[in-house]
Amino acid sequence: MDKLGQLNQQLVNDIEKAATLQEVEDLRISALGKKGTLTLLMKDLGQMSPDERRVMGAELNALKDVLSAALDQRKAQLANEVLASRLASETLDVSLPPRPSPSGKVHPLSHVLDQAIHIFGQMGFALAEGPDIEEDFYNFTALNIPPEHPARQEQDTFYLPVASDGQPLVLRTHTSPVQIRTMQNTPPPLRIIAPGRTYRSDDLDATHAPMFHQIEGLVIDKQTHMGHLKGCLEEFCRLFFEDPELKLRFRPGYFPFTEPSAEVDILWNNTTWLEILGCGMVHPNVLQNCGIDPAIYQGFAFGMGLERITMLKYGIEDLRLIYESDLRWLNHYGFAPEARE
Ligand code: PHE
Repeated sequence: MDKLGQLNQQLVNDIEKAATLQEVEDLRISALGKKGTLTLLMKDLGQMSPDERRVMGAELNALKDVLSAALDQRKAQLANEVLASRLASETLDVSLPPRPSPSGKVHPLSHVLDQAIHIFGQMGFALAEGPDIEEDFYNFTALNIPPEHPARQEQDTFYLPVASDGQPLVLRTHTSPVQIRTMQNTPPPLRIIAPGRTYRSDDLDATHAPMFHQIEGLVIDKQTHMGHLKGCLEEFCRLFFEDPELKLRFRPGYFPFTEPSAEVDILWNNTTWLEILGCGMVHPNVLQNCGIDPAIYQGFAFGMGLERITMLKYGIEDLRLIYESDLRWLNHYGFAPEARE
């Protein structure tokens, strides 16, 4: 075997022994790269006589083919080995339980609101909303509470600077103004609930807060009477408190916007009557203020404290806990997001 043949055999042996793709690549460069041994020999062809060149050229080309084939083969072998070892090591155990992923909790107030919307939704109530910053007219006057009415003082109103159009503004003291807005905008029959924030200038203690939530309810139709009001609230309370036997007590009450009015208590643990809401038949003056003829339409309304029913249902003893956003408390009293209705 001539010198060239030996050189080539050596290269082929090295390629077959190369342990990594990088080694194969280094060998390729050393033989066929710009300054590779074979490349340099090919460059010398130019200085040879035509006869010499024919013989050498053919030999060099044949060597180059042998080398290229050896390189390709070793490369493919190594690539297969890499794949095989990855397949062997990267196993996936599909029987493993999933790792726990961190997730937040739904605040008890949100959860109770979801439940209330769900229960009233099944009774055919739609959702309505109104602004937290309310015109004095909607919060009081249209609700049959004229300017000098003592009820204005009772509600510890937060008054705001008068609006640019001269309207006196307040932070709404109850969700009842949404009744007015709805009746003005939508022709009866009506069946809505209006949950939302309400504000009163109270200190923050275990049972009071300057901001809290109410759920307002309003039904207006041609044949609506007090029996519907009682049935509706009884149904809601029994479903919400998950007690089909729950007893309710309707005590006479007073609200300027309902007549007659009542306060509703539930019998808690069969021992104590606890007040949970105010309600009544919508006052004819209120219907008239909204352009509804009281000779044709009647209805009932109710207003319920969201915090109150949340604390009762879930045994929360201090109102302040609800607003503190203590994560330990939220993790304990909150609800899994999946449980949202
Ligand atoms: N708005 C009353 C309150 O805040 C509750 C209420 C609503 C009473 C609707 C009667 C009818 O106390």
